[in-house]
Amino acid sequence: MKISVIGTGKTGGRVVELLGNDLGEAFDEGNPPTVEKLKKSDAVIIFVPGDAVPEVIDTVIESGVPAAWGSTGYDWPEDLDSKVKAHHSKWVIASNFSLGMNLIRKSIEVISAGSEILIDPEFHIHEVHHIHKKDAPSGTALSWKEWLNREAEVTSAREGDVKGIHELTLKTATEEITLKHKALDRSLFAEGAIWAAKQLINNSSIETGICTFGQLFDQVMEEQ
Ligand SMILES: NC(=O)c1ccc[n+]([C@@H]2O[C@H](COP(=O)([O-])OP(=O)(O)OC[C@H]3O[C@@H](n4cnc5c(N)ncnc54)[C@H](OP(=O)(O)O)[C@@H]3O)[C@@H](O)[C@H]2O)c1
Repeated sequence: MKISVIGTGKTGGRVVELLGNDLGEAFDEGNPPTVEKLKKSDAVIIFVPGDAVPEVIDTVIESGVPAAWGSTGYDWPEDLDSKVKAHHSKWVIASNFSLGMNLIRKSIEVISAGSEILIDPEFHIHEVHHIHKKDAPSGTALSWKEWLNREAEVTSAREGDVKGIHELTLKTATEEITLKHKALDRSLFAEGAIWAAKQLINNSSIETGICTFGQLFDQVMEEQ
């Protein structure tokens, strides 16, 4: 199996390291991908910045090679799914390739539904990141609130070089529940992208076209 990588910066660089012998070719601005070169691999993982996506997207589509895209900050065109299908290809697009975050999503959905029965529950989402992170609250904290689908206070803190801590607290007058996710190593995104790419290669039940990381995770969980 050979998996190529486009974008070998902070995140794509970790993908290259983790792939080891499974690495096809690594592409960056100095060595841009071509359709012919991409066709030599079984899948491709892309971690270029959002503003560089237009420079590589047509090449990836034309190659027909299954793709796991981690780029953020790009408005994916509406007709993308039909273009990918036209090339009989399969893509996963994710703004967060953390596998554990999918378990959190499912847990939050259970908490949200079950909390209906509790008496006057109050929800609080708190996130902590390193001091260089500019946006607050984090996109992940906002996703947690969306999955919860209930009134919740969202607070943020910026401390040292924290890679990312998210915490949901549900409190009533008599009990308190806390659900916490802590990112320990940034290679968690590389791990998730490699898992997704391998699913695209090996799992024949995945249909052509585009799916989200959450849809892929749920499908594989159901198949187990
Ligand atoms: N989905 C997730 O879980 C997740 C996790 C982390 C990051 N991200 C996202 O992934 C993207 C990359 O983040 P990063 O921190 O790894 O960025 P980075 O360190 O700046 O690396 C970007 C890489 O993209 C390459 N690149 C730029 N333009 C290119 C082009 N036209 N053709 C080929 N390669 C090109 C760069 O090549 P040169 O070195 O030659 O310039 C560099 O290797 C961002 O959108 C970020 O938000 C997503």
